[in-house]
Amino acid sequence: MTKRSRPKTPRAVAEGQAPYGTPTPLRFIDLFCGIGGFRIAFENIGARCVFSSDWDKYSRLTYAANFGETPHGDIHTVAVADIPAHDILCGGFPCQPFSLAGVSKKNSLGRKHGFDDEKQGNLFFSIADIIDYHKPAAFVLENVKNLKSHDKGRTFQVIYDTLTRALGYQVHTKIIDARNVVPQHRERIFLVGFREPRYFEFPEFPKTEPKLASILERDVPSKYTLTDNLWAYLQAYAKKHQDAGNGFGFGMVTGDSTTRTLSARYHKDGSEILVSQGPRKNPRRLTPRECARLMGYPDTFKINVSDTQAYRQFGNSVVVPVVQKIATAVLSTLKCPIGHTPELTLAEDPTCFPAPKRKNKKNTPPTFPHA
Ligand SMILES: C[S@@+](CC[C@H](N)C(=O)[O-])C[C@H]1O[C@@H](n2cnc3c(N)ncnc32)[C@H](O)[C@@H]1O
Repeated sequence: MTKRSRPKTPRAVAEGQAPYGTPTPLRFIDLFCGIGGFRIAFENIGARCVFSSDWDKYSRLTYAANFGETPHGDIHTVAVADIPAHDILCGGFPCQPFSLAGVSKKNSLGRKHGFDDEKQGNLFFSIADIIDYHKPAAFVLENVKNLKSHDKGRTFQVIYDTLTRALGYQVHTKIIDARNVVPQHRERIFLVGFREPRYFEFPEFPKTEPKLASILERDVPSKYTLTDNLWAYLQAYAKKHQDAGNGFGFGMVTGDSTTRTLSARYHKDGSEILVSQGPRKNPRRLTPRECARLMGYPDTFKINVSDTQAYRQFGNSVVVPVVQKIATAVLSTLKCPIGHTPELTLAEDPTCFPAPKRKNKKNTPPTFPHA
């Protein structure tokens, strides 16, 4: 006879929880979700998405095609109380106000940037408001590497102080380069926070570097080969900058390479990643499917928008296997009792963080990083 589980309470049903007696998957929310890089990673480790938001029309189309739901729109129009309860908040909040490209472009236009950017700069505070209201057990935030140095470090300081001092979370940060999981040099900063004092370590990545050949398609349509005009322009542009002593130029790659960072503007001229087709043929751009692979998306991921939109979407995304490794580490941390330290792990409890292998063999007392 099968054991009957207790029925869900109306509130539990509303929050999408499993009934008593069944293991409850961790619930996460996908803020600034783009095309769902965080979602794939967290669903792959068994967590369940209970809310998503992105205001971009075309990203919402891609998200709907792949996850069967259209994200909520502008986060400013969502009441914090209408967001379901969740265990983990995920968000790759928009890079532009903080990225080098965004900053220099905005400076040259005489516009403000960072927290002074009225429209975009306060998006971090939307995240802070949601954390403050829902108090999730953990959060995982992602941003461009130069978030740390923006405005002489002041922007990061405000973010860090808000998360730690104002909201009371323990925050761990790390810049991770995706080149050990995909053939792309892509450095991003991750901020992982816990409501309670919990032991956490960022995951280790393999030392090997996959090569571009592993993600290239076989029969690439000729439309991806650069026209003579564009190729001549890019070469002249690179030469001009070389002569002036700076390094701007195109990034030519072969099957043996690691690419530069795929950007949201790749659709413009493809200059940061040009695939060599030998001396007699102009180079080509990556196809959208190759960009998907370069970001660690599975081949089952549906691309149902124009090439321009697809390039933009993948260039803005996270590298899925990087997030998945972090998600796995967050899950391990949340499974362990509060206050757990690896040194206290019982041999028969394989779900908790094992004692890390330390180079220093001396008996060091257990610590909570960044506590
Ligand atoms: C860096 S991308 C995040 C991409 C995402 N992590 C992924 O894997 O595809 C930032 C996203 O924030 C969205 N965004 C910007 N302002 C927004 C707002 N006010 N409300 C909702 N989404 C917004 C943009 O449309 C963009 O898709």
